[in-house]
Amino acid sequence: MSASLSAIRANLLHCLSDPDGDGMQAVQYIENGTLLIEDGHIVAAGRNADVPIPANATLIDLHDKLIVPGFIDTHIHYPQVDIIASYGKQLLEWLEKYTFPAETRFEDPALATETARFFINELLNNGTTTALVFGTVHPESVEAFFTEAQRRRLRMICGKVMMDRHAPSELLDTPASSFLQSQALIDRWHNKDRLGYAVTPRFAPTSTAEQLQMARRLLDENAGVHLHTHMAENADECDWVRSLYPQSTDYLDVYEQFGLVRKRSVFAHSIHVSDSAWKRLASADAAVAHCPCSNLFIGSGLFDLRAAQKHQVKMGLGTDVGGGDSFSMLRVINEAYKVQQLQHHTLTAEQAFYMATLGGARAIDLDAYIGNFEVGKEADFVVLDEHATPLLSRRIQQQHNWRDRLFSLLMLGDDRCIEQTWIMGQCATNKSDTSYQ
Ligand code: GUN
Ligand code: ZN
Repeated sequence: MSASLSAIRANLLHCLSDPDGDGMQAVQYIENGTLLIEDGHIVAAGRNADVPIPANATLIDLHDKLIVPGFIDTHIHYPQVDIIASYGKQLLEWLEKYTFPAETRFEDPALATETARFFINELLNNGTTTALVFGTVHPESVEAFFTEAQRRRLRMICGKVMMDRHAPSELLDTPASSFLQSQALIDRWHNKDRLGYAVTPRFAPTSTAEQLQMARRLLDENAGVHLHTHMAENADECDWVRSLYPQSTDYLDVYEQFGLVRKRSVFAHSIHVSDSAWKRLASADAAVAHCPCSNLFIGSGLFDLRAAQKHQVKMGLGTDVGGGDSFSMLRVINEAYKVQQLQHHTLTAEQAFYMATLGGARAIDLDAYIGNFEVGKEADFVVLDEHATPLLSRRIQQQHNWRDRLFSLLMLGDDRCIEQTWIMGQCATNKSDTSYQ
């Protein structure tokens, strides 16, 4: 069979490295560029003049559109779709009142399948091509998610919640059952096609020491799996952890004591973090997921980006739906910018763009496959329309260089700008299709 070859013409923008160290050199803007894709992988990305189009390639001319790598959401909960934008509570009450009742329903595989389909459509309609995803405590919820992600050929990471205390009884597992169920899901799904498994203890308050030991065993015995959890999101949560684990020096130390802080560990939120903990995160090569929409929506606090940068901790952005109130990584970037403004720090357009693409890929250790247009990477990308709304179009036309245009797009853009989302070199969205199949 002959290989499928496509040449896509548009303006291209992607990161080659981290702007925090390399400045503007880190981002490459190619006006009138060509992306050449063979069998779902990038074979060339450059100026039209430098990328000859082979005679057997299908040419797709999107000349005035902007193509960027697919966005990477480093922290999101698929079973929380139906409680997005729930009113009036902060973290611990929000969990009790909204989250736990919603997650209880996921023992029903039919509900899990329908929700996974809806969720993946939302991701794609927002330009998100890879996500690190919480399921619920029910293994069926993860089964449903992976089944749908595999059907759509997506690169996704998901895991079953481990939770053996401080939640309604229907949502509790045990150290032994959480180990066995997680192991069975790893055996079935980890490294299958583009899927990966994340060992997912919800957070320190909902796991006993015995369960956190089991989480460690899963990491030790299964090469390449992730650890995905929450940390230091809310002041009352931090007080609770102090009282539950009085022998620990801080929140991170709880996870350290159980050997959970390592490469491929991702700690969502990480707001109330000391200098010492930032150092330890960096030296363990662990990552954090910054979720500003959620942190503002449920009133958790302001993430210290400067500290994370100073200590060179790997960092991605996350929507944290349903604590976060949007699936759009553009909305996340907008709020991330404001969270830094409130702390008299400036998040540059390049840095924000990096965190949503290559930086996110590095944070979840997938940068060998995704995150930019390097030759050999998987062709997951987004076609952006910078003129999707009258206001954005008007503002963009006043900007004279790509960096200022990017800033306007990041601040004013949302799902209306996502014209198409491509997975492995094929368009995976159709905006006029509302059937969610
Ligand atoms: N901490 C523990 N569980 C959760 C959750 O579901 N969402 C958020 N935002 N924080 C949590
Ligand atoms: Zn979360």
